[in-house]
Amino acid sequence: MKDKVRIAVLVSGGGTNLQALIDAQMAGKIPHGEIVTVISNKEGAFALERARNAGIEAVTILKADCGSKEEFEDVIGDSLEFRKIDLIVLAGFLAVLSEDFVKRFPNRIINIHPSLIPSFCGDGMYGLKVHNAALARGVKVTGATVHYVNEITDGGEIILQKAVDILPGDTPATLQKRVMEEAEWKLLPQATEIVCQKILKEISADEYL
Ligand code: GAR
Repeated sequence: MKDKVRIAVLVSGGGTNLQALIDAQMAGKIPHGEIVTVISNKEGAFALERARNAGIEAVTILKADCGSKEEFEDVIGDSLEFRKIDLIVLAGFLAVLSEDFVKRFPNRIINIHPSLIPSFCGDGMYGLKVHNAALARGVKVTGATVHYVNEITDGGEIILQKAVDILPGDTPATLQKRVMEEAEWKLLPQATEIVCQKILKEISADEYL
């Protein structure tokens, strides 16, 4: 019987959330999963270095090399199937995935978003833009959300959320840092372990059918 979910982490940038996953894995906090590959859609993303430093395969797949978005997603999807990936974690992966891609991996993709969904989310809302919008609206509390990915951007079922206070004098950069430290880096490993346990149960139930 399978005892670990095979995880792929998709990234586009610095990879601090990937690092939180790697650290959690090394600390035994994701006992039911194993990060087997990291895929970046940006050349030279520092996240790739973090993967290699941890002895994890680091792969770059560029849309420019694939032609269309459809072909780009086909290459990513084929790479994931080839590696027998059970769970895809979007950790600062800033390309929006199409409905076709999501349907290829139903309930097998999760994402971290740096706000309390349904606030400050949806198409075009990523990274510092999210914190900019929260400050502009004047909310006093923001946070982070880990959710399943479906065909609606940031619209899938919520797995975990954590609130973070906005403090006087916050800038988008100070707020981003606090949301990462207080929420994202804790939430993503926790949610990943929860989903890994769920997937293992589904797989073992299927084996009895
Ligand atoms: C994180 O704050 C993540 O929540 C956000 O991008 C940042 C990536 O940082 N993702 C989104 O905004 C998705 N809509 P990292 O590369 O250091 O993990």
